[in-house]
Amino acid sequence: MPADHGLAAVLCGIGTWLPPRVVTNDDLAQRLETTDEWIRTRTGIRERRVIDPGMSTSTLAVEAGARALKSSGSTDVDLVIVATTTPDHPCPSTAPEVAHRLGLTGVPAFDLNAVCAGFVYALASAAGHIAAGSATRVLVIGADTFTTVLNPEDRTTVAIFGDGAGAVVLRAGTADEPGALGPFDLGSDGSHSDLLIVPAGGSQQRGSGLPLDPADVHFQMDGQPVFRNAVTRMSESAGKVLQRAGWRIEDVDRFACHQANARILSAVARNLEVDEDRLVVNVDRVGNTVAASIPLVLADAAAAGDIVPGHRVLVTSFGAGLGWGSTVLIWPELELG
Ligand code: UT7
Repeated sequence: MPADHGLAAVLCGIGTWLPPRVVTNDDLAQRLETTDEWIRTRTGIRERRVIDPGMSTSTLAVEAGARALKSSGSTDVDLVIVATTTPDHPCPSTAPEVAHRLGLTGVPAFDLNAVCAGFVYALASAAGHIAAGSATRVLVIGADTFTTVLNPEDRTTVAIFGDGAGAVVLRAGTADEPGALGPFDLGSDGSHSDLLIVPAGGSQQRGSGLPLDPADVHFQMDGQPVFRNAVTRMSESAGKVLQRAGWRIEDVDRFACHQANARILSAVARNLEVDEDRLVVNVDRVGNTVAASIPLVLADAAAAGDIVPGHRVLVTSFGAGLGWGSTVLIWPELELG
């Protein structure tokens, strides 16, 4: 979806929402065999947010979506995409409900599941709709309550994931405007689908006729190969998107990588031979928020003045599937939602 084919998708609003409950490493250490020191040194994470009873992914998505619409200065959108792996229900999709609660009943709305790469896939999908003329303003939300699929006794996954949502509004514009997204690089490798998986709950398990293994309803992760793939795939995808954009690595002011582990971020920076101060980071405060990770880190960095208008920003993400995706933009003037 090169930005020079037809209309470009231009970032014109951004908003985020985190559930208020903070869970620190020390909180986890009170009930699991772990320590603040282990989690901080192995992952860089200090705390994460977790939903309270009565909340779900749509709660977070609506809050972030409303803030992104406000930031864009208009509630006028003609497509809503919710990137999530933790929909409110297996059926129906969550996006129509989110659109309805945002006052957008009747607007086309669908979910997109590409796990931690979901937000970049959703941006590419929105950009495609805009380029094709089938949408002119798109609300793209990344929202996940991944803590709801974790085994509460699994110290490794409980330590790294958190809940959250972030959203952007994209409008039709031209490729030379600040905020124009693209080109994109997207990819997948299903031969490693078992590295990060919730085995039960889908058609394969339900159609097997076998009794349900209670352990299979929880997310399972093989951390070390995932770590290696995250570093390799994000580094390679970043290189490809730079080549497509005609940017050199030294042209990039800020790298917004999927926030999964501070050591993954450092390894990507080493691979790309860039100083770590060009990375934007919030994994210490939110952990891995899956589809919300990219909009949350972009919004946090913009709010902190670490990303400013005119900055050339490279976005790259990686997650279960495996799936990965990258894009670039020049940061526009934005009201932060
Ligand atoms: O969006 C993509 C999603 N996921 C990721 O990107 C995750 C990628 N992987 C990672 O970030 C890292 O592999 C982890 C943080 C998950 C694990 O770190 P690691 O340095 O690869 O640790 P490890 O799995 O090699 O485990 C080392 C030890 C093990 O103990 P033994 O077998 O050496 O006795 C683990 O049981 O650390 C233990 N361990 C813990 N200890 C204290 C694992 N989790 C914890 C914990 N607290 N929370």
